[in-house]
Amino acid sequence: MANALDGRASGTDSVRGGAVDLRAAAPVPLSPAEIERELASVRRPLREASTLPARFYHDPAIYRHELMTMFSKMWLCVGREEDVARPGDHLTRTVGEESVIVVRDADGRVNAFHNVCRHRGSRLLSESSGSGLRHLQCPYHAWTYGLDGALRVAPHMEDARDFDRSKFGLNRVRLERWDGFLFINFSNEGPGLMEFLGEMGTKFARYGMGGLRRGKRIDYTVATNWKMLAENYSECYHCALIHPELNRVSHYTSGETDLVNQATVGGWMDLRKDEYQTMSLTGKSNRPPFKGITADDQRRIHYYIVYPNLLLSLHPDYVMTHTIWPDGPGRSDIICEFLFDARDVARPDFDPSDAADFWDLTNRQDWRVCELTWQGTASGGYTKGRLSSLEWMVHIFDNFVADRLAGRTEPTPLERPPG
Ligand code: FES
Ligand SMILES: [Fe+2]
Repeated sequence: MANALDGRASGTDSVRGGAVDLRAAAPVPLSPAEIERELASVRRPLREASTLPARFYHDPAIYRHELMTMFSKMWLCVGREEDVARPGDHLTRTVGEESVIVVRDADGRVNAFHNVCRHRGSRLLSESSGSGLRHLQCPYHAWTYGLDGALRVAPHMEDARDFDRSKFGLNRVRLERWDGFLFINFSNEGPGLMEFLGEMGTKFARYGMGGLRRGKRIDYTVATNWKMLAENYSECYHCALIHPELNRVSHYTSGETDLVNQATVGGWMDLRKDEYQTMSLTGKSNRPPFKGITADDQRRIHYYIVYPNLLLSLHPDYVMTHTIWPDGPGRSDIICEFLFDARDVARPDFDPSDAADFWDLTNRQDWRVCELTWQGTASGGYTKGRLSSLEWMVHIFDNFVADRLAGRTEPTPLERPPG
């Protein structure tokens, strides 16, 4: 079986602006009034609206505000249930100062903990994934935790007065599941995952995503701001020029924007010819469409951003996901995964390359323009731009950013453009 962790690629040779020291930048939190003032032009109806101002992609204070209002407060997709299939399987994900360990314990329970020792605060695990873990031992003074988070061993602490080991287990992070995806939330406040997803939680139940298995994973590091990746995903205005292969299979003006709510924005695009079956270099697939999807689904690809870090692309015969992990204003790590029917993945002749090669090519085409855009918007020669009629979803995403930065969790109603 072709499987995970089998490709690593870099979208860039030199990363500018990455790994910003946020504490050194001493940013001042922005007030909702300041955000509203700076983003008033983003709030206009699409035909009058501007893009986010350049500062919103480059300013470390804005980046820090995004971490505080989005990545530290919202549900983040960290992977799939199959990533922690067996006791001892684990993964870590890090954004800003926050890092989470997700691990399956001996009782089969999947736990999420802050990746920080309760003694003097060392990061516990540095590897991004692994298996066979029996306990979590801090690399500093060897405090040792069970995979259930309980502190088991704390050397030389016998004399510490009123030290109750049971009160020094790892601090839990909220963890919930949706259709095979694992989500964590660093905040203990706010709605549960299904309440947050709302209509999105059941909208694609017919695809049976919980039963899918990963057939391929490709990791990228791209020298751009995370929002530029989401904005790029939100429009196909660029597709005729940048993606000739994609545009041959799915016309760049096809489709509609569909669901918009507090958790998501998305819509679909159509396959261009009746004989096309999926997004691949030939438009053909050697897999049947998913059972249970509609006749329309067999002609469509549904593209959704689940705010803030999951891009979910449902094809007739596979699901592609991108999870985005910002690492400073100008650097983003991206995990791109391809999910297939479990029976397909189990076949000895299973070959995901038609899907993976097509999207790896398309991804790299996208990463290049996202890097160029980050470089260009750093210039004093740019302040902000205007949007075309093909960028309605970009406008919705930018307004989601504006809402969150201003402290709002419900989307501000937008005037839908005619046509
Ligand atoms: S910081 Fe972890 S054991 Fe000391
Ligand atoms: Fe693209």
